[in-house]
Amino acid sequence: MKPTVAPYPLARMRRARQSEAVRGLVRENSLGIEDLIWPVFVRDGVGVEEPVPSMPGVMRRSVDRVVEAAAEARDLGIPAICLFPYTDPSLKTEDCAEAWNPENLSNRATRAIKAEVPGIAVMTDVALDPYNINGHDGFVENGEIVNDRTVEALVKQTLSQAEAGADIIGPSDMMDGRIGAMRRALEAAGHEKVMILSYAAKYASAFYGPFRDAVGASGRLVGDKKTYQMDPANSDEALRLIERDLMEGADMVMVKPGMPYLDICRRVKDTFGVPTFAYQVSGEYAMIQAAAQNGWIDGEKAMLESLMAFKRAGCDGILTYFAPAVARRLRAG
Ligand code: PBG
Repeated sequence: MKPTVAPYPLARMRRARQSEAVRGLVRENSLGIEDLIWPVFVRDGVGVEEPVPSMPGVMRRSVDRVVEAAAEARDLGIPAICLFPYTDPSLKTEDCAEAWNPENLSNRATRAIKAEVPGIAVMTDVALDPYNINGHDGFVENGEIVNDRTVEALVKQTLSQAEAGADIIGPSDMMDGRIGAMRRALEAAGHEKVMILSYAAKYASAFYGPFRDAVGASGRLVGDKKTYQMDPANSDEALRLIERDLMEGADMVMVKPGMPYLDICRRVKDTFGVPTFAYQVSGEYAMIQAAAQNGWIDGEKAMLESLMAFKRAGCDGILTYFAPAVARRLRAG
């Protein structure tokens, strides 16, 4: 559709901007609490909330505190919480067996939330990096990140998360063929209602730095993730990956990071019209918080503007560390 406009002064575009009342009438997009997924970090212990230095305002929480956070999120109207474990270094191994341990942190947190806060959807992360001695999302053999053996492990991880009660499985690993393998395994095990939100277009990005601190993967990562995560220069490839994952049974798809990749969000939504999510990642969050703490920008306004940009780009929802802050702000009106 081509936007049309009458010549001045028949059209004065400022008429529609003159008051909040008319601005509200003509507003094209809206940001709602129901658009938010809140990523949280889980650690061992009881009654623990430990700040993540590179993500001001973000905590690693023990399971009991994650349950409290989930209850708070539910009361605010946030539909989903996404769990990321900070795994004890002693549990990181080359075979990543902790990833499918029914008693691992992620699974314990999922069970506790489902028991005590049934109203909120629990999303979990499928990838080996929190459990891998070398920080990679897949198994490393002779310096190479191997695909098919990793997919077998991801399937085991998926089933253990579904068994624990996860509503949405979020594969963030970028191995080939994992969505189909996971979907078939879920169906065969009777988990036909468990959804898959595929991190389908995930770029090899510098903006994940603070997250790797938060899950304790920074010091460990040997090399980079460029053989499995996407090249930031590519756009058509993102569409092929999204189509491939949809054909393998993904229910929803994600673009990640968020703000630097809004063009990808728009192309995905226009091309496929499927539930499209973006992840406003740790580095994006950290930049806004750091500038706000320095008094260089208004943090609250920047938060709201950044999230509205995702809606404008066609996203149905956003994973954001700001979720509770936005929800409180939107409730206050
Ligand atoms: C790893 C994973 C990463 C994030 C989510 N899952 C980091 C990476 O790929 O190295 C990043 C999230 C963020 O930066 O907020 N499986």
